[in-house]
Amino acid sequence: MYDIIINGDTVEEMNKLPPNSVDLIFADPPYWMRTEGVLHRFGGTEFDGCDDHWDKFSDQDSYNEFTKKWLLACKRLLKPNGSIWVIGGMQCIYSIGGIMQDLGFWIINDVVWHKKNPTPNFKGTRLNNSHETLIWATQSPKALYTFNYKTAKELNRDTVTDEEFRNGVRKQMGSVWRFPVCSGRERLNDESGNKLHNTQKPLELLERIITISSKIGDVVLDPFGGTMTTGVATKKLGRKYIMIERDEKYCKFGKIRLESTQFQNSDLAKSVFDEKPKKVTVEEMIRDKYLLEGEYFYLKDKSPVAVLCPDGKLLYQNQVLDMHTCVALAKGVKADRLNGFAHWYVERNGKLVPISEIRENYRNN
Ligand SMILES: C[S@@+](CC[C@H](N)C(=O)[O-])C[C@H]1O[C@@H](n2cnc3c(N)ncnc32)[C@H](O)[C@@H]1O
Repeated sequence: MYDIIINGDTVEEMNKLPPNSVDLIFADPPYWMRTEGVLHRFGGTEFDGCDDHWDKFSDQDSYNEFTKKWLLACKRLLKPNGSIWVIGGMQCIYSIGGIMQDLGFWIINDVVWHKKNPTPNFKGTRLNNSHETLIWATQSPKALYTFNYKTAKELNRDTVTDEEFRNGVRKQMGSVWRFPVCSGRERLNDESGNKLHNTQKPLELLERIITISSKIGDVVLDPFGGTMTTGVATKKLGRKYIMIERDEKYCKFGKIRLESTQFQNSDLAKSVFDEKPKKVTVEEMIRDKYLLEGEYFYLKDKSPVAVLCPDGKLLYQNQVLDMHTCVALAKGVKADRLNGFAHWYVERNGKLVPISEIRENYRNN
C-alpha cells in the first residue's frame, strides 16, 4: 500500500500499517506554538502566524502524551535499519528530543535549518527567531541506516562559495543548512486565493533529506502530511510515499499537487556518487591487454622491479606473491599487505603510470 494519502488521525492510521515496513520517516508535527493575540507587521498589517486548531494543546502533559503516542507508532513502523527526521521549533524540539531519547531512539545528528528569510520579531522584544531544528535518529545505535555521504557532498552549497562549487570543490555536508522559507510561487493557495497552509515546508528541505538518507524505491512515511511536501519530494526522487493527514482540505489539495508531480531521474536521485566502484582483478586486466604478462611493475622511484605473472601475481626476488603482499615486502614495511593499486606503476610510452589509473581506464571502458 504505497503512494497513498491517508485521511485520518495519525496514530490510529499508523497502527493499522504493518510493522517494520518503512525505510524513512519525516515528521513535521504540531509545534504547539502558543501564539496569543494578534501580531502586527512593522507597517501595521496583521501577521498570519500559526494559530490553527490542530496546533492547540491544553498543557505540556497533553503535548508530551501526544508526542509519545505518535513517536511510538513511528517506532513500530520503522525498519531496524531505517531512520527518522523530526523537525521542530524552540517551542517543542526540546521536549520531542527528550521523549525520543526516553523511547530509545538514537540521535545521529541535530541539524539547524537557518532560514534565509525568517519572519521578523515584529515587537523587537527578543532575538529574531531565524532557525528551526531537525533531529535525525535511528531505532538503535547499531542500525545500518542509509547515508549517501558522497551524494550529500555533491549537494552541499552551504559551506562552499558558488565559484568554488563551479570549480568542482566539494566539502562534507555540515549540520547547518541554509534555505529560504517557503514563499512566492511555491506557496500553495486554496480556491479563494488564500494561503492554504500556515506551515508548508520548502521542497528543497525535503529533497535534501530524502536524497541523503534513502535509496531509490525506499518507502517514506510522513505522519503529518499537510500540503504533502514530503510526498512531492519522494515522488520526484523515485521513492514511495505514505502520507497521513487529518484535514480533508489539505488532503484534497495535496492530492492535486502529487498528481502533477513526476519522477525526475538524476544522478542525485540514484545516489550514483555513493555507488561502490566495480571490482576489477589483475587477471581481467591481463586478459583484456590493459596489463601485459611478463611486464615490469615498479615503485614510484622506479625500483625495485617485479614481474607480472600470467595469473596476476608478481615474481619478486624468487617469490611469487600477490601484489599487495609484494609491495609491503618491496617497500620494507612491517605490514603484511599494502594496497598494491596505490603503489605499483608500469611503463607506458617511456613514462611511469600508476596501475590505479590503468584500472580506472579499464572500468570506464
Ligand atoms: C506542521 S504541519 C505539516 C506541514 C507539512 N510538512 C507541509 O509541508 O505542508 C502539521 C500537519 O499535521 C496535521 N495533524 C495534526 N495533528 C494530526 C493528527 N493527530 N493526525 C493527522 N494529522 C494531524 C495538521 O492538520 C497539519 O496539516
